[in-house]
Amino acid sequence: MSYSIISADEAASFVKNGDLVGFSGFTPAGAPKVVPKAIAAKAIKEHDAGREFKIGVFTGASTGDSLDGELARAGAIKFRTPYQSNKDLRNSLNAGKVDYADIHLSALAQELRYGFYGKINVAILEVCDINEQGEVVLTSGVGISPTIAQLADKIIIERNANHPAYIKGLHDIYQPLDPPYRREIPIYSPSDRIGSPVLKIDPSKVVGIVETCEHDAAGGFTPADEVTTAIGGRVADFLAAEVKAGRIPASFLPLQSGVGNVANAVLGALGSNPEIPPFSMYTEVIQDAVIESMKKGEVKFASGCSLTISPDKLQEIYKDWNFFKDKLVLRPSEISNSPEIARRLGLITINTAIEADIFGNINSTHILGTKMMNGIGGSGDFTRNAYLSIFTCPSITKEGKISTIVPMVSHQDHNEHSVKIVITEYGVADLRCKTPMQRAETIIENCAHPDYKQLLWDYLKLSKGGHMPHTMDKCHAFHTEFIKSGDMHNTTF
Ligand code: COA
Repeated sequence: MSYSIISADEAASFVKNGDLVGFSGFTPAGAPKVVPKAIAAKAIKEHDAGREFKIGVFTGASTGDSLDGELARAGAIKFRTPYQSNKDLRNSLNAGKVDYADIHLSALAQELRYGFYGKINVAILEVCDINEQGEVVLTSGVGISPTIAQLADKIIIERNANHPAYIKGLHDIYQPLDPPYRREIPIYSPSDRIGSPVLKIDPSKVVGIVETCEHDAAGGFTPADEVTTAIGGRVADFLAAEVKAGRIPASFLPLQSGVGNVANAVLGALGSNPEIPPFSMYTEVIQDAVIESMKKGEVKFASGCSLTISPDKLQEIYKDWNFFKDKLVLRPSEISNSPEIARRLGLITINTAIEADIFGNINSTHILGTKMMNGIGGSGDFTRNAYLSIFTCPSITKEGKISTIVPMVSHQDHNEHSVKIVITEYGVADLRCKTPMQRAETIIENCAHPDYKQLLWDYLKLSKGGHMPHTMDKCHAFHTEFIKSGDMHNTTF
């Protein structure tokens, strides 16, 4: 079967108003770039002509500006799931212009197959290679590609020349059967391969190939500062002490690490701690710091869903492919984030909180309880099923006017039953085996910023008893004060 080479505009003509469109990739890595831009341009033309044009957008996670940004600015998104991190899309969904469903990343592929979201009409896949039998080599991210390729009526291919065909073998494509036929996913160590190096698609669904060479708009971390370096150091020291105490095996356990600046700094600190043995990662996003640690022999192997790496560093990996090829594997998000595997491998999970409350509940998603930041991402997939779940965050933000340690979180993503350790630049709160009151004392004493400690103690002292010592008419006093005066320091009880 030979495929037609088509322009991005021709590809966009296959996408109709109201279509549900699945895109490959996970973060900007592996997401299509030129066809989404052409769809956005088509949407603007349609709107100018007075016609409706909006689509449903399904991806593995967030994407780059060329997808979420372009489509959001064009007013072309009706519905979006499962995650985003784009400023313009964030503004649109917080303004109620885009319907957004924030769901666990491991769940989306199976829920699409279960039919929860309706029929996927078009799949758009970024690939580095495709043959006539429909064997596709994906690029730097996998996400939900196997499922959308299976469900869609039409497939548009974006062949990206930045990714050499010799990376075949980077991916391990596996899709579990759905209930009632599901069996265990047979991964027993992060480097196990259980599927195929290629994604097999039906060649007759391919409407054309669009050639491109656009880079993933990935990376660009703020360099580690005093606070993130201190947090990283505390995570590393805590884990080294757990090994010494025999609560983590001497050979260590695989690590999952979250997204963002704090996560990148934490990974750097872990890699360089001499007391932590070289370790493997079973994670979703492989960020820059992992690659640096891998070069130094501090990280032995990384299994993930994407190489979310700055473009220069990605090219370095490809140039040094002989070194990296047996140290990396990319899997679909339902496998990289599988709760079953997180529990089986005994993952140490490290994610970043927007805020934590004094009882160990975590808000990962909503600023002041209302405005969506990004989404829960994979943090719930991993936290609930971890061997040891850790949340980190700086103790304050916005020039100290916001304490990230609060009496009660303004939105809850992870609860006290799943969260074992909270770490800020001031210290570590180990919540294991503690009652709510003991957890509150530990978090206030070890993690809160000195400016806010007394206020948190004042809140706790209001308690009239009960197992959970909350005072319901005051538990959001920090937030209401910030909304009123713009500074949580002014809180009074
Ligand atoms: N109140 C108000 N704003 C807050 C805040 C709070 N309690 N906590 C953080 N912020 C703001 C910061 O001020 C910063 O704002 P800016 O962009 O205007 O400077 C922004 O949120 C990001 O904070 P930063 O400290 O740079 O965090 P980060 O880049 O490490 O990202 C999360 C932190 C929580 C937003 C990010 O990790 C996330 O989206 N997590 C959810 C998904 C997830 O955990 N995925 C991983 C699973 S593998």
